[in-house]
Amino acid sequence: MKVNGKTVRDPEHWVDLDRDQVVLDGRPLQAEKKIHILLYKPKGHLTTFKDPDGRATVYDLMQRLDQWVFPVGRLDQDTSGLLIMTNDTDFAEHVTNPEHHVPKTYLVKCSTLLTDEQLERLRNGVELRDGPTRPAQVKRVRDSSNKTFFEITITEGRNRQVRRMVEALESKVLKLVRVAIGPIRINSLNIGHWRVLTGEEVRLLRKCGGRRGAGMLRPA
Ligand code: URA
Repeated sequence: MKVNGKTVRDPEHWVDLDRDQVVLDGRPLQAEKKIHILLYKPKGHLTTFKDPDGRATVYDLMQRLDQWVFPVGRLDQDTSGLLIMTNDTDFAEHVTNPEHHVPKTYLVKCSTLLTDEQLERLRNGVELRDGPTRPAQVKRVRDSSNKTFFEITITEGRNRQVRRMVEALESKVLKLVRVAIGPIRINSLNIGHWRVLTGEEVRLLRKCGGRRGAGMLRPA
């Protein structure tokens, strides 16, 4: 292999296909084109490549795609909503690293009526076994006779975080949908379907976040 004109025999030699000129067996190698997909994951599908028990995975929904992509973060099996799939590792790191504070918004149906004080506790941060949660944005959407629907925007993405936050209030999540990642909302995307993110959407997501939570969405 030749890297920038020099012969390299070390199989562990790192190359950056965006910057280095790599020639293998006389033919130039090119970086695969970056692709960013927005998938509306249905409840029941696993965020994994293959399930030993043969359960449905997000890849079953993407058979039309001829490029290898991986999920940016994960959603629980019982959670539906937006999941980005990409082959762009830098982009994925930006969106998932909690230090970058990229906000993720969830619509929650919980098993009890929540008081304003309980919603305020979610806003201020609740104590979980892995430490207190960061301040969150919380908006009551509606109450039915004995259940509350609310939207919550968090910037961490710990394991089962929203479910555990609601359990800390002595309630339970009955339904959880991720309705937005940063400024990108579900809008008219149908459940089980996907689309390619536009260049502008990718740019907005890359800009989104920031250590002090800049870019955090104010629920409408
Ligand atoms: N919080 C949860 O509890 N589950 C998810 O899938 C995502 C966020």
